[in-house]
Amino acid sequence: MQTPTDTRRLIVTSALPYANGDIHLGHLVEYIQTDFWVRFQKMRGHRCVYVCADDTHGTPVMIRARQEGIAPEELVARSHREHQRDFDGFEIAFDNYYTTHSPENRALCESIFASLQTAGSISSRRLPRLYCKHDAMFLPDRFVKGRCPKCQAEAQYGDACDRCGATYAAEDLVEARCAVCGRPPVQRESEHLFFELEPSRDYLRAWLPAHTARDVANKLQEWFGEPLRGWDISRDAPYFGFEIPGHPGKYFYVWVDAPIGYMASLQNWCARQGEDFDAWWNGQGVELYHFIGKDIVRFHCLFWPAMLHSAGVRGPDQVFVHGFLTVNGEKMSKSKGTFISARTYLDLLPPLYLRFYYACKLNGTTDDIDLNLDDFAGRVNSDLIGKITNLASRGAQMLHKNLGGRAGAMDAAGRQLFDAARGRAEVIAEHFERRDFCQVMVEVREQAEAANRYFDSQAPWALVKSDPEAARQVLTSILNVFRVLAVYLKPILPSYAAQVEKLFGEEPYQWSDAQRPFENRPLAPYQYLATRVDPKLVEELVARSVTRPAAPAAAAAPAPAAVKPQITIEAFNQLDLRVARIVAAEVVEGADKLLKLQLDLGEARPRQVFAGIRKSYAPERLVGRTVVMVANLAPRTMRFGISEGMVLAAGNPDGGLFLVAPDDGALPGATVK
Ligand code: MSP
Ligand code: ZN
Repeated sequence: MQTPTDTRRLIVTSALPYANGDIHLGHLVEYIQTDFWVRFQKMRGHRCVYVCADDTHGTPVMIRARQEGIAPEELVARSHREHQRDFDGFEIAFDNYYTTHSPENRALCESIFASLQTAGSISSRRLPRLYCKHDAMFLPDRFVKGRCPKCQAEAQYGDACDRCGATYAAEDLVEARCAVCGRPPVQRESEHLFFELEPSRDYLRAWLPAHTARDVANKLQEWFGEPLRGWDISRDAPYFGFEIPGHPGKYFYVWVDAPIGYMASLQNWCARQGEDFDAWWNGQGVELYHFIGKDIVRFHCLFWPAMLHSAGVRGPDQVFVHGFLTVNGEKMSKSKGTFISARTYLDLLPPLYLRFYYACKLNGTTDDIDLNLDDFAGRVNSDLIGKITNLASRGAQMLHKNLGGRAGAMDAAGRQLFDAARGRAEVIAEHFERRDFCQVMVEVREQAEAANRYFDSQAPWALVKSDPEAARQVLTSILNVFRVLAVYLKPILPSYAAQVEKLFGEEPYQWSDAQRPFENRPLAPYQYLATRVDPKLVEELVARSVTRPAAPAAAAAPAPAAVKPQITIEAFNQLDLRVARIVAAEVVEGADKLLKLQLDLGEARPRQVFAGIRKSYAPERLVGRTVVMVANLAPRTMRFGISEGMVLAAGNPDGGLFLVAPDDGALPGATVK
């Protein structure tokens, strides 16, 4: 039994999902297991706060918003709603689901940065980086594409080759292109701020084995074979993020403010709950745990602890690293329909099945876990329904039908089973604590199997006719074992357990409730706890998840359109082409292809033109540019207003649009021949 002095205080986090994508079943490997663990801690009577947030900053969010013609804040708000809805659907019970684009996070970033400066951990160097003149921005590695310098594979990103595994600098790509506009980037120098890691070498070396599992720590020792390179923590405008104090036009790299977002989310929770943030984050004995996937270990076990240490801020007690999800033994694939979004799943199946299945698979190591869709249906049907739920449905229904729905006392053999089941409480608790959820399931399954054997050997369906009170004892025993198992399963299947609480007419279960027998009391009417997985729905899940792959960027270009019939010089001369300067540009509400432009032609007032270039150009990038327009096109009345001309743009056969512009020096109003 727990006494108040055993009460722990824990802060638990899951990695913050990027705001520019949907939650999928891979992400859920993490959020579901963290939720198991947090719910378990709470059932043990501990004070546990589970915080998370959307990871909102960085280039991908900025570009995505631009392409959709909305402000990044709007994109971030939409993702937040969608993510929250998905997490609710899977019964992930965050105490706070916040955002990194918050005032708390900005203030914490600024204060940690100031501490790092005071500690002498920040330096600055000028560096050449790839820059796209057309998009007017520096390009992160993932926004440069070209041929691998080693194996010549096409369409590789600027950090590593998918085909041969080589890593390289973006500058080394052959025929590098901006991934946004397809134009070749240039090199441009700018000042970058670095967080120096080498001074933390000894600290990190000792930190790792004490704060990560052995397999993780061993693997990471390879970092120490060479000097630890400084970490580039600044990015140049335009960047969606927090500007660095004292460095106008420079922003914190998203991976700086993202983990600080854990703190900010906790701080926001504290403010809402009337709790003292400092007493949590810096409180004596308060434990801090991060759950992460193996792809982001570097950020959580190198940069993050070093940064916190240098800034004099407390860091995590443990970083729990899990493996990746494969589906049917392979990487999730859009074309095979195994890249399944949380939403698609929830449209078809209850969260219960996936939570159950993941529990059967997770063992607290960095091993990848496989969602085999046949096994998924089989395991849920045979174990969750056939072995576990059947105890309740057969036991409770028989008791209602024949014996007035009232539990009696257990018989001797039944009490032994019950004692055996409740006797596993601490062993199972230990499995939960170590995140060895599959062992929890092994234990539960064994107890359920023993109860089923007892049920079949006692044959209460026959006994009820010859000796109804003996049958009542058997059914009472079965229901007691089931009830203990429901307590154990509650962190994994919370709404299922809530229905069990209703069946027995009890308060929400705590861990210690497994010890109490349920005897001589009435049962509520039995309501279905769970039904079998319909394999048709699993097939439908895959069918709905299939997306056709987009044409690869470097695929052979489609043939250009055929040339139109000849015209005379007179016909050509009827066209009045002029140079125009764009003085204003905005998106058009309700038209996702159009931009509304104001064009200065040297006339008394600018011309208003609607141009179908929204997919290729962000309005704020256009103002000030000179273009070529057809100045004598008859005005056209459109749904949104009158269009007084047309701007010229080159249309690639694949749909890409490129505005036609005169060389420098051409003035607005100049004729074009
Ligand atoms: N935004 C960063 C984390 C910042 S934490 C300060 C990020 N986001 S993510 O959306 O890509 O991933 C969120 C978490 O989900 C990560 O821990 C990641 O490892 C995990 N997973 C994403 N895809 C996964 C699988 N296919 N399988 C298992 N976990 C996966 O990284
Ligand atoms: Zn570009």
